[in-house]
Amino acid sequence: MLNGKKVLFSGMQSTGNLTLGNYLGALKNWVTLSDEYECFYSVVDMHSITVRQDPAELRRRARALLTLYIAAGLDPEKNCIYYQSQVTGHAELAWILNCYTYMGELQRMTQFKDKSAKHADNINAGLFTYPVLMAADILLYQADVVPVGKDQMQHLELTRDIAQRFNGIYGDVFTVPEAYIGKVGARIMSLQDPSKKMSKSDENPNASIYLMDDPDTIMRKFKRAVTDSEAAVRYRDEQPGIKNLIDIYCACTGKTPEEVEREFDGKGYGEFKPAVGEAVVDVLRPLQARVADLEKDKAYIDSVIKNNAEKAQYFSNKTLRKVQKKVGFPERIR
Ligand code: TRP
Repeated sequence: MLNGKKVLFSGMQSTGNLTLGNYLGALKNWVTLSDEYECFYSVVDMHSITVRQDPAELRRRARALLTLYIAAGLDPEKNCIYYQSQVTGHAELAWILNCYTYMGELQRMTQFKDKSAKHADNINAGLFTYPVLMAADILLYQADVVPVGKDQMQHLELTRDIAQRFNGIYGDVFTVPEAYIGKVGARIMSLQDPSKKMSKSDENPNASIYLMDDPDTIMRKFKRAVTDSEAAVRYRDEQPGIKNLIDIYCACTGKTPEEVEREFDGKGYGEFKPAVGEAVVDVLRPLQARVADLEKDKAYIDSVIKNNAEKAQYFSNKTLRKVQKKVGFPERIR
């Protein structure tokens, strides 16, 4: 608990261009949580260097992501929006937690297996201990809840195991976090292969709508989106392509799938696809305009970065000092 509220932590990487899936599936819903929770949203740039990055590009993208958090409606007075790399406790706690995490546990992580297959020339130790840094992110703020997608559930489970192990040895040091189970948002799939999640790392640019795509590009990508042969706008598992488009349309308009089926009853994909495209354009246009405005106000963004980094540093230090004391480190010299 912090300021009488439960604590919520989540983070996103700034690698790759963010997609409509990131927005509708996560960011848009984060905005609704700040009244109920004390929220920490980090740009996890330390995780990003587990794969090789161009430094200038990493810096630019991290700032763009932080700006997007604000543009999406996260009030930086109410939510702590900060760069992971600017708060020293993440690396410090991660080291300690490394010593309470087993090789076998990390070897079982499916993301590690996937990423080491994909980056076979750079299977570094950071890639291996990535989940420990993620555990440090969460435990450092004594987070009660963590909104994460399915792909990060295994990492959250490991975080819970590490917290419980540590608490078992030293007493109640860490809050054991739960997955956030409220409405987490729509699960948006690839426009070219609806069995896969829409991903910023997809090689096919037609598979994803990027948040900064212009209206023509968006309309074109929806026109090319794969559907199926039935030609009816029905919300059914047997039609995963059209189901995904209905999900997107619903997430953008607030309508239910039944309403959408009725709206397009007797109409074909030729009418439905452009309607989805327009709904997405209507959502992204104001978002893009806010990003453009914020980018002009460098001093404001700089002040948000500074104030929130200080706030995060302050709260995280409390946990870190406690942990350092528990494991037997001498008191910090000021
Ligand atoms: N690993 C997460 C992802 O790639 C990002 C992340 C890092 C995160 N630290 C976190 C998410 C802590 C939730 C909580 O999606």
